[in-house]
This record gives sequence, structure tokens and C-alpha cells, in this order.
Amino acid sequence: MIEYTPDNITAATIEQMSTTTDPRLKTIMESAVRHLHAFAREVNLTPAEWIFGIQFLTRVGHMCSASRQEFILLSDTLGLSTLVNTLHDTTALEDATHTSLLGPFFRENTPVMERGAQIGSDVSTGEIVLWGRVTNVDGAPIANAMVTVWQTAANGSYDMQVTPERNDYRGSFVTAADGSYVLKSVRPLGYYIPMDGPVWDMVRAQGRHGMRPAHIHFLIGAVGYRELVTALYLSGDPHLHDDVVFGASADLVAQIKQNDPECPIKGLPSIRFDFTVSRESEADRRGGRVGADPAATLA
Ligand code: BEZ
Ligand code: FE
Repeated sequence: MIEYTPDNITAATIEQMSTTTDPRLKTIMESAVRHLHAFAREVNLTPAEWIFGIQFLTRVGHMCSASRQEFILLSDTLGLSTLVNTLHDTTALEDATHTSLLGPFFRENTPVMERGAQIGSDVSTGEIVLWGRVTNVDGAPIANAMVTVWQTAANGSYDMQVTPERNDYRGSFVTAADGSYVLKSVRPLGYYIPMDGPVWDMVRAQGRHGMRPAHIHFLIGAVGYRELVTALYLSGDPHLHDDVVFGASADLVAQIKQNDPECPIKGLPSIRFDFTVSRESEADRRGGRVGADPAATLA
């Protein structure tokens, strides 16, 4: 019989798990145990700290509902979501537009709208045009791609936070034969991550401001191409360099132009962004996203 010590418990745990038949599950769990034990040894984790961690994770779980996913928020604020996204980008068949966070405010079944439609209900702060093309990495247009857009209203709130029963400031658009998309929206505002949960408590205990820079989410799907989950970040926002969830990446910063002569809708400020998508690999066909409609995570 073994006498357990800080030095042999890791090997004993991995030995007992060695009967795992799924090879990927075996790899992941062995590594998780090795790193978890190394972390506890490194900080000399006390029983009081261990129970604090258990209570924290319990609060995270209790916070989850059909309209709130606190575990994803935790992953985002710990940089894990962006780590997995950047790892995922390196496995694409082709170097396309990079991934950014899906975030907790994505909704499945966003309504398809007419080309050029306004996605927001209150345009009193002024409209902007979002336009550009979806192409492959050689610049060839992709027709019939589905471009789904969601963002905050001009006051920094998502529809889910204000009118959960109604879609607003979100819409899906089908690209034309030349790969182009165009829609109208309003200028989004940067916002604090939700302040009523344990993740906010963690962020504040760390002395972080808890803000995201103003951004517009995009999800682009096209037959035969890897799904692209990304976002555009508005140039000039004071939090581009210290986004609390590490989504704002330099290559995804977009500028609002006042009078772009090439913009298909005249007389409005506009953002042009051309997205490239990678051909789909066998693994891509099996799907998977860093993020989800909160309702889909309750099943
Ligand atoms: C968002 O962009 O919607 C978001 C992403 C991560 C955490 C909170 C919000
Ligand atoms: Fe967002």
C-alpha cells in the first residue's frame, strides 16, 4: 500500500486513470491533473483557499441560465478563450481573418435581413454602414455566405440584457455574387462585463477595470469553408490595449470613415472590412466554437 505525499499523489492519480480507453480523453485528463497538482504545489494551496475556490466555482455555476453563461465569462477573463481561439487559428488550412471572442451575447437563429437593412431599433444617435466582402484567401468572392452581426446599442447594452424576448442590434445577411455584404447599424459603445456575478468580483479583486472596447461581432459561414467567429474593434477606443477579455487584437481594429466614396450607401459614416475565410478541413466539419448561445449550454 502506498503512503501518499505531495510528491507521489500525482503519479498515483494518473496511474489510476490509465484505464481510460478514449486516447484523447486520457491525454487531456492526465495533463489536467499534472498541471492542477503542480499549481497546488507551487502556491502551497491551503484548505481555506481550496474551499474558497470551490465556493467560487459553485457561484459561477449558479449564475448560469438560458441567458447567462458565467463559465464562458470566466474563461474569457482568464485569457483561456483567446488562447483556444489563437490555437484554433493556427490549425486552419489557410491563413484567413483571425478569430475573436464569440462572447456570451451570441444568439442562435438570428433573423435573416434584406441587404442594406438597419439592425437596430433606435437610430437616434446616428446610423453607420458596415460593408465589405467575404473572399477566400486568394481574393475570390464567396457568394451566399451567411454574415451574422451582433453588437450593443449606442448605450453599451445588448438586447439580451434589456429585451431578452426580442432580437435587436443583430441580423444575418447573405453575401451577393461578388461576395459583398452591406448593412446599417449604430455606433456601439464599450461596456463593462456583467457586474452582478462572481467573475466581476474576481476581476475587481484583481484591480482590473472590467471593460471591453467598443466592437461589432461577426460570424461568417460559407459552405466548404471554416466558420469564422470574429469581431471588429473601433479605432480610437481607450480600451483597445487592455480589453478585459483579450478579444481586441491589432489586426481586427476598424476605422469609421466619414465620407468613403466607395461605400454603397451614401451620406453615412461607414466601416469597410473585407473578411477572408479558410477552406474547411475534415476536423472543421465536426464543428465546435469557443462560446455558445447560453441556452444551448444548459442541455
Ligand atoms: C462580448 O463581446 O460580447 C463579450 C465577450 C466576453 C465577455 C463578455 C462580453
Ligand atoms: Fe460583445
